[in-house]
This record gives sequence, C-alpha cells and structure tokens, in this order.
Amino acid sequence: MDMFKTIYDLGIIPVVAIDDADKAVPLAKALREGGLPAAEITFRTAAAEEAIRRITTECPDVLVGAGTVLTKEQCDRAIAAGAKFVVTPGFNPEMIAYIKSTGIPMMPGAATPGEMEQAMSMGLTNIKFFPAEANGGVNKLKALAGPYQAAKWMPTGGVNTKNLNDYLSFDRILCCGGTWIATSADIAEGKWDDITRKCKDAIKTMLGFKLEKLCIYGDSANAEKNAKLVASLFGFDVAETECGVEAGSLCFGKEESDAKGCIVISTLNGNRAKAYLERLGAEIDPDIWYDKKGNVSCFGLKDTVAGFEICIETK
Ligand code: 3PG
Repeated sequence: MDMFKTIYDLGIIPVVAIDDADKAVPLAKALREGGLPAAEITFRTAAAEEAIRRITTECPDVLVGAGTVLTKEQCDRAIAAGAKFVVTPGFNPEMIAYIKSTGIPMMPGAATPGEMEQAMSMGLTNIKFFPAEANGGVNKLKALAGPYQAAKWMPTGGVNTKNLNDYLSFDRILCCGGTWIATSADIAEGKWDDITRKCKDAIKTMLGFKLEKLCIYGDSANAEKNAKLVASLFGFDVAETECGVEAGSLCFGKEESDAKGCIVISTLNGNRAKAYLERLGAEIDPDIWYDKKGNVSCFGLKDTVAGFEICIETK
C-alpha cells in the first residue's frame, strides 16, 4: 500500500525522542494499544537507530519512521535499521537529494514558500511543516494551498489535542505530528498506560464519533404516520429522505429490511474512521459511498449489532 495513504489514514504520527532502546518495544505496544501504531523516532538521541531496529523486528505492524535526520550517515543507519520513512526538520537541498536517491518515502521539512517550491520541484509533495505553530499554523498553510496545489503537509511543532482538528479539518493536511502523545518523560518513566490513553484521546478528537440518528425499520407502511406522530409530540422537524421519513434524529424506514434498524454514527473523517475501525478488526461492508473528491462519505459494518445495522457518515 502507498505509504502516504497509510500515514494519511493514521492522521497522527507520534514524534518520539527515546533515550533507552529497551523502552522501544513497550512504547510501540502502548501506541498500538491506543490505536496509533506508528512513530517517528527522532535521531536526537543515540538510541534512535536501535529503537527503530527493535520496533521493526518485534512489532512489524507498527509503522516506524526516522525523524530529525540531519546527515547522510543517519539516513543510511535509519534505513538499515528498518525505517519505513524519513523526515527532516529543515530543507537542506543536498540532504534531501540524498535521501530521495535512496528511494525511501520521505517528508522534507519546510516552513517557507521557497523551501516548499524546492521540495516540489524535486517531486516531493508531502512536506513536514515545521515548526508549525511558530510559523503561522494552519492559516499559513491555507494561504499557501492556492499556489501550491500539489502540496500536502504534516504540521509538527506545537500541535496537540487542542489544536489538532484546526489542522486536520483542512483537507490538505496529510497528518499531524507531535511529541505530546509520548513525551520523553513518559517514555523514560515507562508511563505506557498514559501514552495509550493519550493516543485514544487524540483519536477520539480526530474522528469525533457521535450518535447522529436512529433509523427504525419494521413498520415501513406507517413510516410517515409514525414520523409525524413523534414529531408532533416532541416538536421535531419532519423531513422525507432517501431512507425514510425523519422526525428529528429518528428516521422511520420506508423499505423492508431484515435488520431492526440502523444506528447512524457521524465522524469528522470517513477515510480515517474506516481505517481506524479496520485496524481494530471491524469488518466493513464492501458497499462504500464516496464523495466527488473520492473521500469516504458513508460506510457500514458488515454485521449487525443487536439486530441493528451500523452506518458511519462523514459530517
Ligand atoms: C518535531 O521534531 O517534529 C517537533 O519537535 C515536535 O514538536 P512538539 O514537541 O511541539 O510536538
């Protein structure tokens, strides 16, 4: 699979500075447990190379890349250790050309229009925007999005659960990176449960799952009557839709079905929600709806729950 599609689907890449390679595997397991099986291990510490090697060997399902790659030697060591992608903090043309020549997927760091143009002229459109908040945040990227149509960004530096969705709600963001999920102190102190919890919090924020609607099947002949009754009692609005007649957040189905109904859950990003549920092992119904841009707009779980279908809609 395309590496950048995997990174997009993850939505968040924990950036890690690890001092003790013995902590690498427990860290990878904590991230995986939290639903974010990925890490950018930065070459800010001597343990980076060994940490990449151990995660690659012992947790092959965790996507591990190398960050803060400043020298050709670090790049070679990262690749030899099994890094699946390489990230640089800044734009050093010689280094970028070298990393690109190795063939490994990479995200060059860039903060200015000139650096971004250089990256794109080398065919590198997935760019780390660093340090993001200090450089104008998502508003700067929105201003650059017009001239740089091909660019996709990984903002890093000052990103956290509070401003995560300011970035992720902009469709030119590949993913967000940051150290807040697994700080060096968390790792040094072995706070694996805290790291797992922070992954879950970040995913919750990113996907924004919310109960949206309940569709009731089984009395299709009376759909309109039922909807109008409920609406008149509780002051809900009535609306006719493709699926049935709605009364507020209730929908009375017009078609007969074997299921009792459908629980509709909304999400802020259907692509990432689908990928996340698949990572959890949920089976997805192959009948998936896409919008004009090719993004997942609606999908369902293959199996019913308590007789109800579960549909996930992008809000
Ligand atoms: C990086 O290397 O990408 C940044 O230092 C991460 O920045 P943060 O610590 O603000 O998340």
